[in-house]
Amino acid sequence: MSTVLLIKANNRSAEQAVSVQLYDSFLESYKEAHPDDTILELDLFKQHLPYLDANLADGLTKVKHGVQLTAEEQKAISIADQYLDQFLNADKVVIAFPLWNMTIPAVLHTYLDYLNRAGKTFRYTPPEDIKDKNDPFASSTGLLPDKKIAILNARGGVYSQEPTAILEMGVNYVKNTFGFYGVKHIETVIVEGHHQFPEQAEEMIKEGIEKAKIIAKNF
Ligand SMILES: Cc1cc2nc3c(=O)[nH]c(=O)nc-3n(C[C@H](O)[C@H](O)[C@H](O)COP(=O)(O)O)c2cc1C
Repeated sequence: MSTVLLIKANNRSAEQAVSVQLYDSFLESYKEAHPDDTILELDLFKQHLPYLDANLADGLTKVKHGVQLTAEEQKAISIADQYLDQFLNADKVVIAFPLWNMTIPAVLHTYLDYLNRAGKTFRYTPPEDIKDKNDPFASSTGLLPDKKIAILNARGGVYSQEPTAILEMGVNYVKNTFGFYGVKHIETVIVEGHHQFPEQAEEMIKEGIEKAKIIAKNF
């Protein structure tokens, strides 16, 4: 039996939002295939997530150096810890989000800011242990090699090929973040181009939903 955490970073309705349709289809199919698993749903727009700011940054630095925290710093760390612990305790994590302005919704960015914690999701690699200087992930060591991640995303344009691929900082951002944590198993369902090619939109969305269901079944 596993614990799966499903994260939704979109507060548009399912009728309007393709990534919410992917989320709902994934959830339904997952429940059917894994009736004994523990399923936790986290709707980021329903949370109160303060931005990463001086309180969290200074507080974490003080903890490292054993310095007394202010009440505000303690509070900022407690909030981040609550989400970090929930994430760490899940065997599998599913994240659904739209591409907005070439990147992820701000609320998801803030959530990921809470997860980036040395000693929990990654650790710094001592310089003498860096084997491949060309490996962008070599200066740190991910601590979550066994976690499974599924990314569910919708984007109106096409970014899966050049020359637009470099402009996409949503799925890439999330994938690189989990790569930084050492996650090896990352599945993606991306519906793309349904605004660029509206005559094919229905088919594209249908295909994405079917893919989400299949991945959920075997996740
Ligand atoms: C505020 C906003 C910004 C968007 N920015 C982009 C973008 O940068 N690139 C793109 O291809 N589509 C963009 N779109 C289109 C969305 O990616 C598209 O509507 C997608 O289906 C969003 O996911 P959703 O349907 O789950 O809400 C944007 C849409 C909105 C509302």
